[in-house]
Amino acid sequence: MEEGKEANPLADEGFRAFALEALRRWHVPGVAVAVVDGESTWAEGYGIATFPSTPVTSSTLFYTGSTTKAFTAAIVSLLIASGKYSIPSFSSSTSSSSSPSSSSPAFSTPLDWQTPIARLLGDDFVLMGEYEWANAHLTLEDALSHRTGFPRHDKALPKPSSSSSSAGFDGVREVTRRLRFLPATAEPRVRWRYCNLMFMVVSHAIQTLTGEWLGATMRRLLWAPLGMHATFLRLEDALRAREQLAAGYYWDYQRQRSHPGEQQEENEGFVEVPFADLDVASGAGGIISNVLDYAQWLRCLMREEDEDEDEDAPVLPREARRQLLTARTVMPPESRAGFDAPLAYALGWNFGTYRGHRVFTHGGGMDAYGAEVYFFPDLGYGVVTMANTALTSNFVGVELAWKLIDDRLGVPEGERFDWAGRSQKMLERKLAEPETAVQELYPDRADPPLPRQLPLEDYVGTYFHPAYRNVTIELIADPTRHPSPGADEHATGMGTNGKTEGGNGMSPSPRPGPGPGPELKAVRSDFEWPTVFEFRHVSGEFWAVVIDLLKVPNRLNGQLARAEFKIGVRGRVEALEMEFLEEGSEGVIAFQRVA
Ligand SMILES: *[C@@H]1O[C@H](CO)[C@@H](O)[C@H](O)[C@H]1NC(C)=O
Repeated sequence: MEEGKEANPLADEGFRAFALEALRRWHVPGVAVAVVDGESTWAEGYGIATFPSTPVTSSTLFYTGSTTKAFTAAIVSLLIASGKYSIPSFSSSTSSSSSPSSSSPAFSTPLDWQTPIARLLGDDFVLMGEYEWANAHLTLEDALSHRTGFPRHDKALPKPSSSSSSAGFDGVREVTRRLRFLPATAEPRVRWRYCNLMFMVVSHAIQTLTGEWLGATMRRLLWAPLGMHATFLRLEDALRAREQLAAGYYWDYQRQRSHPGEQQEENEGFVEVPFADLDVASGAGGIISNVLDYAQWLRCLMREEDEDEDEDAPVLPREARRQLLTARTVMPPESRAGFDAPLAYALGWNFGTYRGHRVFTHGGGMDAYGAEVYFFPDLGYGVVTMANTALTSNFVGVELAWKLIDDRLGVPEGERFDWAGRSQKMLERKLAEPETAVQELYPDRADPPLPRQLPLEDYVGTYFHPAYRNVTIELIADPTRHPSPGADEHATGMGTNGKTEGGNGMSPSPRPGPGPGPELKAVRSDFEWPTVFEFRHVSGEFWAVVIDLLKVPNRLNGQLARAEFKIGVRGRVEALEMEFLEEGSEGVIAFQRVA
């Protein structure tokens, strides 16, 4: 490659057509793309930022979700490298009043990757009694490489506080304090398990160390020196920016199904989603930015090793950067996909190789946005995409990024990985979930099912868990969704996996599949990600729960849970046990009936 002499791949008409076709096929209004190649940066927008007609440009702002994590890790790396932060070398169990910095320096050790989180956060970082070792030993490095043993517990994340004075401080502190009620699902440091909550804990730790809001620290240490003036960690700041924030949308597949065969207006299925607050998402997923700024970030990450020597104070000194890009945790076999081998997780980055080239990547998703970032440090090559739907934006981003990468590397068409096919399978599985849930969650259920012990109304009530808070169960009013007698459990032989029974989810039939429809529901609006739980009876006191986002109810962000009601000796429902399944079991959460 001659420096800066590559042709702009985004200017190519063929690529534009490819991008517009991907937007249409995945039902995404618009996407912005930036490519960094050697000395060159190119950026383009395709499609619509805000209906009816505001186009996406290279400077359009988007929520970038979990691509934020790399910045959070970078801040920790910079704080460590600065040598300015010290931690008391022993913790006193009665130290609720003393902040770490006020302790005697004689007993201090410098902040480093091995610093236990508990030393930084004291009473705020308390785990359940059975995790005493983890409580004392989990480090910033563990949290930043998803190896703490904790699952997501995203549904326990509180809604951001409305008081703006404390905004950004109280949210992550509150999240951290909920950990004391939450189960882990693995021993510490044995398994990779993606956990947003732990990045919120790190955000709280950073703010505790610096006494400054994380967004201010990111601006001071990274965004300002890198010229990233269109990058924000607070919605109000993004709304005041010169650049325009794209509206977020979801595509209503139900609507599409209820008018099968009808030719729809191009934009008719899009529903706008209100802008989300970011105070809780914080260092786990709170950034709003554009592809041009992210191109600057990639340049910083891909600096040649010897370039630093020319500079008095590089933004990300060599050692700080090296730490970020060093693999810590082995990811599961499925992470291989189109790469050479399964990926590893560094600090806020997936790391692997593709055709022998080192590659770092991370996706990000918010309610109605999706971003993808890739860079190949040895090639000086990187791609960023940002778009305005949840999940399908990542499908578009992955497809466009890999087209650009494969074109750049000259990979023959026949040898390219089918990213679109992989995404399509995921989409179909998600859309079919309401119909496949019972079989998926309870393959060994009683057949025919046992009846529940109490009338449906007796299950209505409020059930409380100190971290997950209230699940308030009500009846589903719509009688058309109730099971007709004998409609349930047709011919689902035990031992068959039933995977074909629910249809493929794209089918126009409104209610195919086995089992009764949902009879109970709980609307959970007071959370970072407001959700609706729909309960379908399975057998006895066991229920299948289909969960969807309240503001983005098109099933693509849906999840499943198992539920069992507990009936006490007095013949009354007294508790509800739920096992949420997001990327595997999140442990059993016991809600006690409070009303
Ligand atoms: C939970 O529900 C109980 C009973 O209805 C109510 O008193 C309480 O305020 C609720 N708590 C929250 C956090 O919503």
